[in-house]
Amino acid sequence: MPDNIHGRSVLTLDDLSPSEIRFLLALASELKSAKRSGTERQLLAGRNIALIFEKDSTRTRTGFEVAAFDQGAHVTFLGPSGSHIGHKESMKDTARVLGRMYDAIEYRGFEQRVVEDLAKYAGVPVYNGLTDQTHPTQTLADFMTMREFTHKHLSDLSVAFVGDGQDNVALSLAIGAAKVGIDMRIASPKALWPDEAFVAHFNDLAADTGAKLRVTEVLGDAVKGADFVYTDVWLSMGGDEADWGRRIELLTPYRVTEAVMAGCDNEYAKFMHCLPAFHDASTEVGADIEKRFGISCMEVTDEVFESAASIVFAQAENRMHTIKAILVATLAG
Ligand code: CP
Ligand code: NVA
Repeated sequence: MPDNIHGRSVLTLDDLSPSEIRFLLALASELKSAKRSGTERQLLAGRNIALIFEKDSTRTRTGFEVAAFDQGAHVTFLGPSGSHIGHKESMKDTARVLGRMYDAIEYRGFEQRVVEDLAKYAGVPVYNGLTDQTHPTQTLADFMTMREFTHKHLSDLSVAFVGDGQDNVALSLAIGAAKVGIDMRIASPKALWPDEAFVAHFNDLAADTGAKLRVTEVLGDAVKGADFVYTDVWLSMGGDEADWGRRIELLTPYRVTEAVMAGCDNEYAKFMHCLPAFHDASTEVGADIEKRFGISCMEVTDEVFESAASIVFAQAENRMHTIKAILVATLAG
C-alpha cells in the first residue's frame, strides 16, 4: 500500500494522483471480492470515525457506516441538528475537538472552504462526502462501476455528462476523467457550462494524461460514441427552490431518453446516475413538480432508468466499496 495515502485527507480528486486513484479502485475491488467470499479481514478495529452531515444522504451515510462496521471501526453520526456545529461553534473549533476524539472525519455540507477548514484544523484525515462544488467519493464509485461494465481501460472510455454542466457530480467526474485520461463530454445549456477556470484546470491535468473535454449545447454530438451517459438532478441540495421553473425550462431538452441513448450509436452504452433520481413522480418532490409543471420525470425517463442499460444500483453499491478503500488506505496500519 503506498505510504503516501496513509493519514491523508480526500477533499477533492485533485488530492489524488492518477496512480493513487487506480490504487484505490484496485483496493476497492479486492475488498468487494473479500466481502463477497467471506474472507474480509478487519484492518480498522478500534478506529472511531465522525460522520458530519449538514445535508441529507442515503448512500454516502450508509456507505461510510457499513464500510466502517465491516472493517471493525465505529462511527458517530452528526446530522444537520443536534450538535453545535455552525450555529454555536465554528468549524475551526469543532475540528480541534473532533480531531482529539476521532481517527478520521467525514463531512457533507455546502461550501468547499468549510471541509478545507475542517481538514486544516482537525489533525486527522477528513473525507469530503459532498459539497456544493465536488463529490470525490462518488467519482471513485463511478469509475469502479465503469470498469465492471466494460472491457476497456478507463483511459479508452468516452463519457458524456448530460444536464447541468455546473453540477458538483459532473465537475467531480470531469476532474476524475482528466486524471485518468477519459474522453469527457458535457452536454449542457450554455448558461450552465462550467466556467473558464475549470476548463483550464481540466486541460492542465489532461496535458499529462491525454484526457479530452468537449462542452457543447448539442446533445447528439456529446453522446455519439459514448460508452457511458451520466446525468444528475436539475437542482442540487441547497439550491434555490424558486429556480425550479427556469431550470426545468433550460434543462428539459437535456433529459436522458431512449432516443438519447440510441444516439450513442453504441450497443454497449450504459446509463449512470449518482442518485437519488427524478425518473417518476412517486416521491414528494416528484409529485409536487408534476403538479406545478406537468412533467412526470426530470433528468431521465423512467424507461431509461429501468432499462437494461441502467447500472445505477451497481453504482450505488460501489459507493460502499470505494469508501471502504479510502478508509483502509488512509487509516489502516
Ligand atoms: N449519490 C449520493 O451521494 O447519494 P446520497 O445523497 O444518498 O448520499
Ligand atoms: N448534485 C446532487 C448530488 C446528490 C448526490 C446534489 O448536490 O444534491
